[in-house]
Amino acid sequence: MAAMLANLVRPIKIKTPDSDFGRRKLSPTPSRTSIRCLASGKSGERSYTLTLLPGDGIGPEVVAVAKDVLSLTASLEGIKFHFKEMPMGGSALDAAGVPLPDETLDTAKGSDAVLLGAIGGYKWDKNEKHLKPETGLLQLRVGLGVYANLRPAVVLPQLVHASTLKKEVAEGVDLMVVRELTGGIYFGKPRGFGTNDNNEDIGFNTELYSASEIDRIARVAFEVARKRNGKLCSVDKANVLEASMLWRKRVTMLASEYPDVELSHMYVDNAAMQLIRDPKQFDTIVTNNIFGDILSDEASMLTGSIGMLPSASIGESGPGLFEPIHGSAPDIAGQDKANPLATVLSAAMLLKYGLGEESAAQRIEAAVIETLNRGFRTGDIFSSGTTLVGCKRMGEEVLKCVDSLTPASVTS
Ligand code: IPM
Ligand code: MG
Repeated sequence: MAAMLANLVRPIKIKTPDSDFGRRKLSPTPSRTSIRCLASGKSGERSYTLTLLPGDGIGPEVVAVAKDVLSLTASLEGIKFHFKEMPMGGSALDAAGVPLPDETLDTAKGSDAVLLGAIGGYKWDKNEKHLKPETGLLQLRVGLGVYANLRPAVVLPQLVHASTLKKEVAEGVDLMVVRELTGGIYFGKPRGFGTNDNNEDIGFNTELYSASEIDRIARVAFEVARKRNGKLCSVDKANVLEASMLWRKRVTMLASEYPDVELSHMYVDNAAMQLIRDPKQFDTIVTNNIFGDILSDEASMLTGSIGMLPSASIGESGPGLFEPIHGSAPDIAGQDKANPLATVLSAAMLLKYGLGEESAAQRIEAAVIETLNRGFRTGDIFSSGTTLVGCKRMGEEVLKCVDSLTPASVTS
């Protein structure tokens, strides 16, 4: 149990109450480097406001489960949560005509942490860009200033058979993708549509990074790697793209400040291949926004199901944003088939990184492991000999485990 738990816990062991990741002064530019993800002004009080953004598709189902898990955990750990549920994505488009209403962003900014389900669906796919649910998500990330996106991919021993890779390749995979989240081609200008000299329609975007944007994400990644196995692989396309050339130069320069971290560089096409060929060679990966989007989906599949993987997005100050990396899965929405565990584990990341509530986070992680040990599986991770359950039942089983775990069994 302890070893299995360690597997899940270790990749997100960046911030613990006794380690001061994020508050440590990192010379020579401390102002850029401190990731302050602890809720502020709460010393001793242990009462927090959480914004819940259920969103679209399976989002409301999985967030409902995570909310119950958070509530029960809070009561057992002496924490008080005040939940504020706000519309976001397609549901906000239907209710308010925009994917991220001002009230939603203001509420999120004014809270201690934000838990998001998923956004998007067929209904809004053909909307103009500024009216797409995805645009709301990008606005939320920028609005909260959460530039560092941590996406762990861990192959749990219980689920090794769910991986499409051979057991010996998948077994023991334990990596973290640190994705830059508020820059690069997602936001670079110029961008748009136009016509070329032949009067042909064109669409164009700009991959653009400043030195300071690269430095701050690189520092997060070095810190993450330092608290894991001390190996950092920076992924770029420096053989072709100027933005990647600067990326590689800055990351290389910063390496001298982290002599305990072994830095390597890899082109993204090779990284995509190596992730499938030999994923265990990776510990921490740092990369830009678009490569991180793609590689984190790929990494998630090593684990067998994207339905298991949480993420944390954090910035210099203010609330962090915590969300499962899966999408809204409109094909199974409302059918009680979704796997709520990625959102439950995102809630654990919220407790750990967002609020510094380590023990509560560990209780949830341990409960998830215990639920899997008891053989409960949603369809996406089902294998013969296990018990197929729906989203709600999976939530109930996690709650039972949250309740039955004593503090001793949580930390042992
Ligand atoms: C993700 C998603 C988003 C992204 C979409 C929904 C805008 O794919 O979080 O990985 O591209 O960042
Ligand atoms: Mg993605």
